[in-house]
Amino acid sequence: MRSDPFEAIGRNRVSLSVLTTPSDDNGLGHVFGGVVFSLMERAAYIAASRHVGMTCVARGMGDVEFQVAIEIGEVLHVVAEVLVAAHTSVLVQVDAYAERVVEGELRHTNSCLATMVALGSDGRPVAVPGRRPASRESRVAVLRGLAAKEILDRARHAVTEAFEEIATLDDATLEGRLASMGID
Ligand SMILES: CC(C)(COP(=O)(O)OP(=O)(O)OC[C@H]1O[C@@H](n2cnc3c(N)ncnc32)[C@H](O)[C@@H]1OP(=O)(O)O)[C@@H](O)C(=O)NCCC(=O)NCCS
Repeated sequence: MRSDPFEAIGRNRVSLSVLTTPSDDNGLGHVFGGVVFSLMERAAYIAASRHVGMTCVARGMGDVEFQVAIEIGEVLHVVAEVLVAAHTSVLVQVDAYAERVVEGELRHTNSCLATMVALGSDGRPVAVPGRRPASRESRVAVLRGLAAKEILDRARHAVTEAFEEIATLDDATLEGRLASMGID
């Protein structure tokens, strides 16, 4: 028996698969987005918590989109991979795939960057252990993760500022802006 069951896939990667069934049906013969999202969060939880040896919770799941439908009866696969652990959070790349098992067709359906925060016993964020990247591949992954985190942080601040500015607009300006977008 293998001494480390994770040796083959690597400890930073988690792969979860589930056969979709009629209870997942959104009424159109397709899988509910929440079913896909749930598996993505679970995979991110395992990858992050295993990586830092602490319980992690999802603080943000990036910009999850559902551009490609998954048919009921297809197998949903989710692969989560830790990109970087820094400060109190772990950034996890999560990719979902659908497989028609009989035909042997596999297609990518969606992805997200999950921010998983490590929690202490008081339920508050705690610092995660930093890991020195040992190989070129892991140095590239860490820099990619940090670049993605910086971009996401900037985008979050920009959205907050835009929301605050919109909340201060008077009624005439609100109507003018909607009209300029073709919304009466
Ligand atoms: C996780 C939790 C304890 C964090 O508390 P908080 O006061 O938001 O903590 P902070 O503001 O210090 O942020 C903690 C980390 O999240 C990151 N973060 C903050 N807002 C974020 C957002 N919108 N998206 C992604 N990451 C975010 C911060 O950058 C920080 O990471 P860093 O220390 O590595 O830089 C709290 O938000 C919580 O309990 N959330 C619910 C988690 C949960 O139940 N998830 C399951 C889905 S319901």
